[in-house]
Amino acid sequence: MMSNPDFSDRFREALDSEDSLVEAAVSRDPVTTFAESVARGLGAARKSLDCRFLYDAEGSRLFEEITAQPEYYPTRTEAEILERHAGEIHAMTGPVTLVELGSGYSVKTEHLLSAYAGDDARYVPVDVSAGALRAAEQSIGDSFPEVNFTGIRGTYASAFRVLRELSPQMLVFLGSTIGNFEAHERRAFWHDVQAHLPLGDWFLLGADLVKDRDTLLAAYDDAAGVTAHFTKNYFARMNRELDSGVDLGSVEHRAVWNDSLDRIEIYAEFTSAQAIRVAPLGRSFDVGEGERIRVEVSQKFRLPELTEELERFGLEARSSFTDDRGWFGLLLLQRVREHASS
Ligand code: TRP
Repeated sequence: MMSNPDFSDRFREALDSEDSLVEAAVSRDPVTTFAESVARGLGAARKSLDCRFLYDAEGSRLFEEITAQPEYYPTRTEAEILERHAGEIHAMTGPVTLVELGSGYSVKTEHLLSAYAGDDARYVPVDVSAGALRAAEQSIGDSFPEVNFTGIRGTYASAFRVLRELSPQMLVFLGSTIGNFEAHERRAFWHDVQAHLPLGDWFLLGADLVKDRDTLLAAYDDAAGVTAHFTKNYFARMNRELDSGVDLGSVEHRAVWNDSLDRIEIYAEFTSAQAIRVAPLGRSFDVGEGERIRVEVSQKFRLPELTEELERFGLEARSSFTDDRGWFGLLLLQRVREHASS
């Protein structure tokens, strides 16, 4: 990995060289960033935590394990759609660079790469976990040695800064990660895509769809307890990095379906009162017995409304694919114009 200051310059160099992993400029200490985010969330009237920090090395590994649980249908269903339609998607976009946000271990992406690999394609995965990127590089190198791999370890924002250099491209955002944003964050995200993706470039979006409540709840509360472990790992990470002193035995995982907002909400519920320290900032937050801290939302979508929302940001649906049960949607969009509304 290279480490001099300007990320865009380093990224450009990496594209022309053998470097396969570029570290986006981290301007400040990551532990301070984490500490400030936790303090902001725990200081609010309704306590919550930023879900981005679920994905440390252990969290990324646990998430991968969630995707293998029988109740967690989204990954499997999306993979099946990708496998079935990769050829059609490739026929529509032609040869393009694949840029994937939140790529993790890039397992599902292999279905797409099998359609694009013949073009000597370039693949630019973006993830906050260096371990996940290295694992992805290894398995993609094995399956698709002809694909040029340049990973970015960083946030989505860092990737947006270099999209201009990657045209023609297809920006890929799978796993219904968009559902983990609040509505206003989601619209800000569409705005960013619209602002950074060159005209004519493509955007492939995976979105989990509204379905019966029991299926949804089971997906976020698997019988083996892997999702519960994933929620607890947030507090284990706080203990490790922020010396928070949380009694992990008093953290219970709760998944709730919010029917009026069409979303799953995930909480950590405390069976005993805690004083949660954020040591780097010298602060502490009281949590009462029975109090809930929200760690995640997972919005479920209806394709007509989602398509309409994207259209308002100059992102026009060219195709939409679903599985036979209509559980998961994959939208192939193209950026067509500056968006009028905001
Ligand atoms: N993008 C995934 C989803 O919304 C993330 C996820 C799955 C998740 N299971 C979770 C996040 C449990 C937090 C807790 O389905």
